[in-house]
Amino acid sequence: MRIPLIAGNWKMHKTVRESVDFARGLLEAIGEVNGVEVAVAPPFTALHPVAEVLKGGPIRLAAQNIFWEESGAYTGETSGPMLAEAGCSLVIIGHSERRQYFGETDETVNRRLFAALAAGLHPIVCIGETLEQRQAGQTFEVVTSQLEGGLTNAGADQIGSVVIAYEPVWAIGTGVTATPEQAEEVHHFIGQTLAERYGEGLAQTTRILYGGSVKPDNIRELMACENIDGALVGGASLEIESFAAIAGFNKG
Ligand code: PGA
Repeated sequence: MRIPLIAGNWKMHKTVRESVDFARGLLEAIGEVNGVEVAVAPPFTALHPVAEVLKGGPIRLAAQNIFWEESGAYTGETSGPMLAEAGCSLVIIGHSERRQYFGETDETVNRRLFAALAAGLHPIVCIGETLEQRQAGQTFEVVTSQLEGGLTNAGADQIGSVVIAYEPVWAIGTGVTATPEQAEEVHHFIGQTLAERYGEGLAQTTRILYGGSVKPDNIRELMACENIDGALVGGASLEIESFAAIAGFNKG
């Protein structure tokens, strides 16, 4: 049984004050959480203040990136132990924006994966094809190589802590959502790939989130798909009303 996870990726939005106010409002709006896990990923500056607001409540805290060394002369970077102590329990790794603008590769995703696991954080590993790759019929190939590259040398016991996020690049921030059929096809494929590599049992418990223009009005049809176990939400996670509606997809 996979408990759905709805995670909000705030990207480079919200100052400390805005983040804290938002977190307070979100706690109120979301109320009780049943049968779903909810998380938010504020910018680094707001992680700890937001952790203080969320403490003891049902919303979990995620970081948007992690560096692979624990400490040292790495100006501008943030390590796993720092994130864990700041209150994070999850970390997004390999988001397509990091791949596109900051030189992220499958190899660096893999290094971050191990840093997250060492710090006791659950990595949310993002994979997904570009529009050109989809049009060239390379979707499964791209997803397989990102999955294999990102998870290189991870054993079954480690995969147990990992969350996968399938985010077709052409659907991120564009308002174009993959249809439930398009998303489900790739989610099913990812599940099969995990089963081949790590066994059926692990594939059955590993959550695969969908990301890319998730909104209150498409979350239910996406969540109705057998292999979609939650969502990584960008734009619609920046407003309390829309994120609370997405997180409450299973209410009423
Ligand atoms: P979006 O972003 O919901 O704004 O498309 C999703 C993401 O980048 O995780």
